[in-house]
Amino acid sequence: MNICPIADKCGGCTYQGVPYEQQLKEKEGAVRGLLSSAAFDPSLCLPIEPCPDVYRYRNKMDYTFGDEVKDGPLQLGMHKKKQFLSVVNADQCQIVPEDFNRLLDATLQFCRDKGYTHYHRRRHEGLLRYLILRRGVRTNQLLVNIVTSPGDFAEDEYVNVILSTKTDHDICGVLHTVDDSRSDAVNPTEIKVLHGSGHYEEVVMDLKFNVGPFSFFQTNVPAAERLYRDAIALIEGIEGKTVYDLYCGTGTITQAMATKAGKVIGVEIVEEAVEAARRSAARNGLTNCEFLCGDVLKVLDGMPALPDVIVVDPPRAGIHPKAMKKICSYGVKQIVYISCNPKTLVQNLVSAREEGYEPVYFKPYDNFPMTNHIETIVLLQKLNS
Ligand SMILES: C[S@@+](CC[C@H](N)C(=O)[O-])C[C@H]1O[C@@H](n2cnc3c(N)ncnc32)[C@H](O)[C@@H]1O
Repeated sequence: MNICPIADKCGGCTYQGVPYEQQLKEKEGAVRGLLSSAAFDPSLCLPIEPCPDVYRYRNKMDYTFGDEVKDGPLQLGMHKKKQFLSVVNADQCQIVPEDFNRLLDATLQFCRDKGYTHYHRRRHEGLLRYLILRRGVRTNQLLVNIVTSPGDFAEDEYVNVILSTKTDHDICGVLHTVDDSRSDAVNPTEIKVLHGSGHYEEVVMDLKFNVGPFSFFQTNVPAAERLYRDAIALIEGIEGKTVYDLYCGTGTITQAMATKAGKVIGVEIVEEAVEAARRSAARNGLTNCEFLCGDVLKVLDGMPALPDVIVVDPPRAGIHPKAMKKICSYGVKQIVYISCNPKTLVQNLVSAREEGYEPVYFKPYDNFPMTNHIETIVLLQKLNS
């Protein structure tokens, strides 16, 4: 595949044009460097696992409406490198399926024809904010969600434009989210289902998941599936055990573990994700998993059962030092740490070491080629246990 035509402008990919082998080498080197800087043995790091698909792997993309030059034509795409207020059209992106590029084009053309303005982040005026596309890799469903400020938006005409765009996926839903906030993240005031369903379906490790428009879900499904399987395989004798799955999102790993463990308790701060997790667990016929909504730091004070093993999959910011201390204080023999940010992972490993846990297995995964993201699985073992 040729280098992306906007590689020099787009803030999305950092490794465009870099041969894949070199990307892997640099990522593995970066992780080993972080280990050394925190006085861990860098040889603990196993070779990085390459991605099953180097291109077209993403299942979600958040595109921003804006302009590339001040008062220039409307664009829809990614923020420009180092220029937060500029947006470059991203209709030839190589890490999303072709359908995303087609729907981006159709949406942009429709909005330009209508003469709609984009929301201006400094002036806080204008209509169009984001286009969020999500797809079920195993179900071939695609969910379209256009986010605007309050104002006139031709919803029926937009649905017709989307449904008449030739796509390989089935359009399972078209949503219009209205957002009246001044925040950079979407804060829905209203979510209107204009066509079909408000969710899409995904299948991971033979379990079905119903994913809402704003729920977290791993963006590279086959790669995430491999990551989860490998992480669960590290748990010694999971059968009959009570497992905590902290930062559980929509409960993917929770449910995969529940098919084997005695009981699994998932903790997640986003209510929509917890509700989705409960719905899918019921649908998957799993009665031995429970989901608690709240901040791990607080929820850990009132858990209904003690754990035999703990799995954590925190956001990029890592685990709050106080929460890390509480997690270690259970004294379980094994803690499996799944990380999406090696920097905060290593900081947490330093805290875990102070609490008597040593990393005994450390493997990075390249689940997001072309970008600088790295996933890692670490097995922490309690010393003298
Ligand atoms: C990397 S995701 C893990 C998702 C999950 N393992 C999955 O596969 O769907 C991290 C999750 O932690 C949640 N989160 C962030 N801070 C949290 C906190 N303080 N307490 C509980 N959950 C939190 C986020 O909402 C997000 O769903």
